[in-house]
Amino acid sequence: MENSLLIVHHDTGIAIVQFNRPEVLNALNMALMAELVDTLEALDKDDDVRCIVLTGNEKAFAAGADIKEMAGATAIDMLHRDQFARWDRIRKVKTPIIAAVSGFALGGGCELMMTCDMVVASETTRIGQPEINIGVMPGAGGTQRLTRAVGKVKAMEMVLTGSMITADEALQWGLVNRVVPVEVFLDEAKALAREIASKPPVAVRLAKEAVLRSFDTTIEGGLEFERKNFYMLFASEDQKEGMQAFVEKRKAEWKGR
Ligand code: CAA
Repeated sequence: MENSLLIVHHDTGIAIVQFNRPEVLNALNMALMAELVDTLEALDKDDDVRCIVLTGNEKAFAAGADIKEMAGATAIDMLHRDQFARWDRIRKVKTPIIAAVSGFALGGGCELMMTCDMVVASETTRIGQPEINIGVMPGAGGTQRLTRAVGKVKAMEMVLTGSMITADEALQWGLVNRVVPVEVFLDEAKALAREIASKPPVAVRLAKEAVLRSFDTTIEGGLEFERKNFYMLFASEDQKEGMQAFVEKRKAEWKGR
């Protein structure tokens, strides 16, 4: 499936979704975001897709929301557009999403990266929330997700100065899973996606859901949620198969049921 704003490739068990606005460093305009959300929701319903890789190109994952599209807007325009509400739908995608990031991941690009479940970054990655430099502030989760990921003082510095951090800093701060040479960042992300795609799909979905729940609830509520998901997996054929295969010392064959 190919069109002007996104390119989607399918590989065994995984899908790769690539932003296609290289001339503006993959700035996230409303049309691209609408298409992205629709695409992710469609892939989420596809049983053959067990992990999604979201990527840009070597120079930019995404340089943020499209400034030219927002520049002349009034507060009421922004209220009616409610463009960031669309982003909440990405959070509800049950299939794991890995961001394969290289070059700039700024503003909305950083926020989108943080909405993904894991991040493979190239050595040339530069991450930041530079909205302060254009008279605004993060609007798609930056003040919340960045703070939870890196802590108050580092988030405060990034949000209030707009400065960028390097891939190695992002690794040290726990914002990305791994940093690899730029030539292989997409291949590494695909390899991680294939590994996840090889796991029992129902368990993967319920486990993702439980990890995400930790951001929205108390420890008690989260533990209760985890326990229910754990118990629920005993209703799956994959649980019977996985444990039986272990006992019989053979490789399990997952049905996704
Ligand atoms: N929106 C629209 N266009 C953008 C863009 C953006 N966020 N970022 C880059 N572009 C465009 C540039 O205007 C330029 O287009 P033209 O060739 O037509 O002039 C093209 O992409 C290439 O960019 P540069 O020439 O600026 O490239 P550079 O290598 O010199 O600089 C950069 C790269 C430092 C990333 C610089 O482009 C930049 O600062 N971009 C803006 C980053 C930013 O402020 N992002 C936050 C946006 S607001 C937001 O995201 C709100 C939110 O919370 C969701």
